[in-house]
Amino acid sequence: MERNRIYVDAVLWCAVVYLVTHLPCIEMRVDDLEQPAPREQPPASTARPEPIDQHLNMGKCFHMPRSMCPTKAVCTTLGPGNMSVFCCDMDSAYMKDVLPLIIMQNKTNLHVLNASIDELDVSTSVFRRLSSMAFTDGNIGKIIGQFPKHSPIACLNISNNNLTTAKLPSSQRPFAYLFNLTVLDASANNLTEFPLSLVQSNKKIDINLSGNNYLPCKHFQKAMETNNSSLVHFLNYNKTFCALDLSFNWFKDIKIVPIDHIRIQKELNVSCRDIKPANINCTCVPERLEVTGDNVTNLVAVDCSRRQLKEMPTHLPPNTVKLNVSYNNITSLQAIASDTSYDHLRRLIVEHNDITNILELEGTKFIDHFILFAIGYNKLNIIHTYVLSNRFVTTGPTFSIVGNFIHCDCNTAKTLKPWLLENFKNIPDYKNLACKDDMGLVVELVESRVCHTPTDWTDYIYYIIGLEVLVLVLLISKVSYDYWVFKTAGYLPWPANKMPRLPCDWLCE
Ligand SMILES: *[C@@H]1O[C@H](CO)[C@@H](O)[C@H](O)[C@H]1NC(C)=O
Ligand SMILES: *[C@@H]1O[C@H](CO)[C@@H](O)[C@H](O)[C@H]1NC(C)=O
Ligand SMILES: *[C@@H]1O[C@H](CO)[C@@H](O)[C@H](O)[C@H]1NC(C)=O
Ligand SMILES: *[C@@H]1O[C@H](CO)[C@@H](O)[C@H](O)[C@H]1NC(C)=O
Ligand SMILES: *[C@@H]1O[C@H](CO)[C@@H](O)[C@H](O)[C@H]1NC(C)=O
Ligand SMILES: *[C@@H]1O[C@H](CO)[C@@H](O)[C@H](O)[C@H]1NC(C)=O
Ligand SMILES: *[C@@H]1O[C@H](CO)[C@@H](O)[C@H](O)[C@H]1NC(C)=O
Ligand SMILES: *[C@@H]1O[C@H](CO)[C@@H](O)[C@H](O)[C@H]1NC(C)=O
Ligand SMILES: *[C@@H]1O[C@H](CO)[C@@H](O)[C@H](O)[C@H]1NC(C)=O
Ligand SMILES: *[C@@H]1O[C@H](CO)[C@@H](O)[C@H](O)[C@H]1NC(C)=O
Ligand SMILES: *[C@@H]1O[C@H](CO)[C@@H](O)[C@H](O)[C@H]1NC(C)=O
Ligand SMILES: *[C@@H]1O[C@H](CO)[C@@H](O)[C@H](O)[C@H]1NC(C)=O
Repeated sequence: MERNRIYVDAVLWCAVVYLVTHLPCIEMRVDDLEQPAPREQPPASTARPEPIDQHLNMGKCFHMPRSMCPTKAVCTTLGPGNMSVFCCDMDSAYMKDVLPLIIMQNKTNLHVLNASIDELDVSTSVFRRLSSMAFTDGNIGKIIGQFPKHSPIACLNISNNNLTTAKLPSSQRPFAYLFNLTVLDASANNLTEFPLSLVQSNKKIDINLSGNNYLPCKHFQKAMETNNSSLVHFLNYNKTFCALDLSFNWFKDIKIVPIDHIRIQKELNVSCRDIKPANINCTCVPERLEVTGDNVTNLVAVDCSRRQLKEMPTHLPPNTVKLNVSYNNITSLQAIASDTSYDHLRRLIVEHNDITNILELEGTKFIDHFILFAIGYNKLNIIHTYVLSNRFVTTGPTFSIVGNFIHCDCNTAKTLKPWLLENFKNIPDYKNLACKDDMGLVVELVESRVCHTPTDWTDYIYYIIGLEVLVLVLLISKVSYDYWVFKTAGYLPWPANKMPRLPCDWLCE
C-alpha cells in the first residue's frame, strides 16, 4: 500500500514539474502571436484534419458553410498542410492586424464569411499567394487597389457583400491582371457594370452574376458577342438578369429581363434586318413571352420611328405585336391590309405622319384586334367611324386621334361628335380633336350653328308646301264656286266657259 502511494505521488509530482516547465513555453508562443494585436483573439489551433476537396467548389473555389465556422476564434486553418484559412464574422481591426499573420505562411485558400470591413485592399501583399480568395456574405465598404500582376488567383468570390460598381476600384479594369482567374462569383450584389476586361482576354471563365439586377443587358450582349462567346460561361444562367434600357423604344424605363433574352434578341436582330425597305435600321425587342399550351412565342415590338419612311414598313419579324412608326412621312396604311406580317399587330403608333384616311383598314385583322391605335398628328380630315364600328363595345381598345384637323360641317356635328361622346372611354383625347379653319373643337360644335344653310333650305321647302296647299285650297273653292254658279245661274263663270270640252265631260253628262 505504502509503496503504491509513493509511486502515485511520484507520478503526480512528475506531471506538475512537466507542466511548470512547459507552460511558459506555450504562453510565450501565444504572446508572440498576440503581440501585434493584443486585443484580438489568436487564431484557433484546433484544426480538424479533414479532406479539403469537399470544400472546393468547381475544384478551385474554397468555400465553407456557416455551420463550419470556428467557435472559439475568428479564423481556423484546415486542409492538407493547413493551406486553407476559414474565418467568420471578421471586422476591420482583425482584418488589418491579425489576418496578415495568419495568411503569411504559404496559405493558398482564404474564405472570410461575413466580413464587416470598411475597405478591402486587394493589392496588399498578404493576398499575393492565394489561389482562391473569397469574401462572402458580409458588408464591404469598398474594394481598393489593383490585384498584383501575375497573381495566381484562380477563383475570386465576392458574393453577397452589398457591393456596387462605385465600391469597386475606380480603375477601369479592376480584374485586369488576374490572368489565372477562371471563376468569378460576384453574385448577390448590386453591380451596375459588367467586368468586361475579364472577357476580353482570351481565356475561359465562369462568371456568376446572378442577383445583380441592374447590370445593363448591353454589357452582357457585348460579353456574349466577343470573339468566341463560348469562352464565357454564366453560372446560374437561368437566374441571371439584366436591365434592358428602353429609353429609345417604348417606355422611358428599364426592364429587368433574364439574360436568355439576349440570345432571343440575337435571333431577333436577324429578322429585324429583313424589314423592308432595306437599311432602315428598325429596332426589334422581345416584348414578352406568350405561352399557349406547350408553345412559347416571343412577341416582338418593332420601332421604326423617325426614319423618314414614306410608306409603312413590310416584312416585319414573326409575331410582331407592337409597331412604332411615328415621325415619318407615311401617307397610307395600305400595308396593314396587304402584308401578312401585320396579322399579329395589336398596338400601332403612327403619330406625326401624313396619313389622310383609315379606310384601308376596313375589315383588317388589326382593326378587329387592336389594343392601341394612335394616329394623332396626321392629315385625317374625316374619320370614317364605321371602319371602327364594332370595336368600342368593350372598354379595351384605345384610339387616339388628337392633332388631326377635321373638316367640320353639319354632318360632323351630327355623326362624329356624338360618336366621340359615346366612345369617350376608348378615345382618351376626344375632347381635344379640333376642326380645320379655326372652327373650334369637334365636341363643341353646335348643330344649330354649323347646320345653318341646310336649315334655311328646309324652311323654304315648308313655304313651297304651304303655297301649294294654298293653291290647292283656292282651286277647290273655285271649282266649288263654279259648280254652285252653274247649278243656280245655269252658266259657267270665266274661265271654265272658255275651256275646251274634254272626253270625260261627255261621260259626266
Ligand atoms: C460564393 O459565395 C456564395 C455565398 O456564400 C456561394 O453561394 C457561392 O456558391 C460561392 N461561389 C463559389 C463559386 O464558390
Ligand atoms: C496544422 O496546424 C496545426 C496547429 O496549428 C498542427 O498541429 C498540424 O500539425 C498542422 N497540420 C499540418 C498537416 O501541417
Ligand atoms: C456579421 O458580423 C457582424 C460583426 O462583425 C455581426 O454583428 C453580425 O451579426 C454578423 N452577421 C451574421 C449573419 O452573423
Ligand atoms: C513556403 O513555401 C516555400 C516554397 O514554396 C518554402 O521554401 C517555405 O519553407 C514555406 N514556408 C512555410 C512557412 O511553410
Ligand atoms: C496559372 O495557372 C497555370 C495552370 O493553370 C499555372 O501553370 C501557372 O503557374 C499559374 N500562374 C500563376 C501565376 O500561378
Ligand atoms: C449597403 O451599403 C450602403 C452604402 O452603400 C449602406 O447604406 C447600406 O446600409 C448597406 N446595406 C446593408 C444591408 O448593409
Ligand atoms: C451563384 O450565386 C448564387 C447567389 O449567390 C448562389 O446561390 C449560387 O450557388 C452560385 N452558383 C454557382 C454555380 O456558384
Ligand atoms: C441597386 O442599384 C440600383 C441602381 O443603381 C438602385 O436603384 C437600387 O436601389 C439598388 N438596390 C439596392 C438594394 O441597393
Ligand atoms: C435553365 O436553362 C437550361 C438551359 O441552359 C434549361 O435547359 C433549363 O430548363 C432551365 N431551367 C429552368 C428552371 O428554367
Ligand atoms: C442603317 O445602318 C447602316 C449601317 O450601320 C448605315 O449604313 C445606314 O445608313 C443606316 N440607315 C439609316 C436609315 O439610318
Ligand atoms: C403549337 O405549335 C404547333 C406548330 O408550330 C401547332 O401545330 C400547334 O397547334 C400549336 N399548339 C398550340 C396549343 O398552340
Ligand atoms: C417628312 O416629314 C417631316 C416632318 O415630320 C418634314 O420636316 C420633312 O420635310 C418630310 N420629308 C419629306 C421628304 O417629305
